[in-house]
Amino acid sequence: MNATKSTFPLNAWYAAAYDVEVGRKLLARTICKQKIVMFRRTDGQVAALEDACWHRLLPLSMGTLEGDELTCGYHGLVYNAQGRCTHMPSQETLNPSACVRAFPVVEKHRFIWIWPGDPAKADPALVPDMHWNDDPDWAGDGKLITVKCDYRLVVDNLMDLTHETFVHGSSIGQRAVAEAPFVATHGDRTATVTRWMENIDAPPFWAGQIEHARGYRGKVDRWQIIRFEAPCTVNIDVGVAEAGSGAPPEDGRPGDRSKGVNGFVLNTVTPETDGSCHYFWAFARNYCLGEQRLTHQLREGVAGIFREDELVLEAQQIAIDEHPDHKFYNLNIDAGSMWARRLIDRMIAQEAPPAPVIPIRLAA
Ligand code: FES
Ligand SMILES: [Fe+2]
Repeated sequence: MNATKSTFPLNAWYAAAYDVEVGRKLLARTICKQKIVMFRRTDGQVAALEDACWHRLLPLSMGTLEGDELTCGYHGLVYNAQGRCTHMPSQETLNPSACVRAFPVVEKHRFIWIWPGDPAKADPALVPDMHWNDDPDWAGDGKLITVKCDYRLVVDNLMDLTHETFVHGSSIGQRAVAEAPFVATHGDRTATVTRWMENIDAPPFWAGQIEHARGYRGKVDRWQIIRFEAPCTVNIDVGVAEAGSGAPPEDGRPGDRSKGVNGFVLNTVTPETDGSCHYFWAFARNYCLGEQRLTHQLREGVAGIFREDELVLEAQQIAIDEHPDHKFYNLNIDAGSMWARRLIDRMIAQEAPPAPVIPIRLAA
């Protein structure tokens, strides 16, 4: 890993927590190498402050919350939700520089999003679309896992699902995924990989879903449409429909998926450090919406599948650290992740300070 070059942009919204994680208890979390403390104000809004007291740097997460104010657990400086010190023990006059950084926060689609970069650039319209997470036409739930690897390895993993064949053979993997052709496209901030597998046997997971939801057993048309949004969100449109029922799009027109079951695997991966990340995922479905039991089963089932990924990713990170000069070769299957990495690199480059101008000295 390159110690000098940043591995992530700062001017971006990053998922910092699931909505349910943040309440009236102080929550400490490292986001993009910055220690942050989060809490809900009395009006329900989330505040995110630098987790280090202005006075002697004790983490504020070790302090106490009263109303909307946070008291440091060492010498009792009090801060408001904007990070400004409002009280110092044993003195009337407050030092005007006494404040800690407050981060822009947006709560949307079940996540608390934090902007660790320049607050003036924090446009809420840039929060990635993950609406399936709280849309009444979809049902689901997810989890957070902290993985000991560079967040870009998780992005690579999601952009190339041929790994399902080898890593997830007992659930969603099958030969067809590794063998079917795919199309990779990209925009300014997005990269998409589309794969259709027509008239195939469904893998165990999807065979179970379409039978449960529609009572159907037989060949299916299967799809995986992976959409990356820079720097670290990957939403995957997945599902199967009765073979030949018209699910694949034709001549630019969307297909008819009414004889199928559709899910969205929602992933957003927040760098914690250069070598670790917070991986937020959820699985939302558009069938059997009222079955809470199915929501629970699916969440636990997907958690098992992602555990298989976690083992691979952490082992890969250890191997990469052991071979810092190893050069990677890309295969056709790496097209999506190559685009994702290019878009990430572009965001990082846009934040890099301009190279110094070396004045030309004219000969006397
Ligand atoms: S370290 Fe926080 S008040 Fe002294
Ligand atoms: Fe996987």
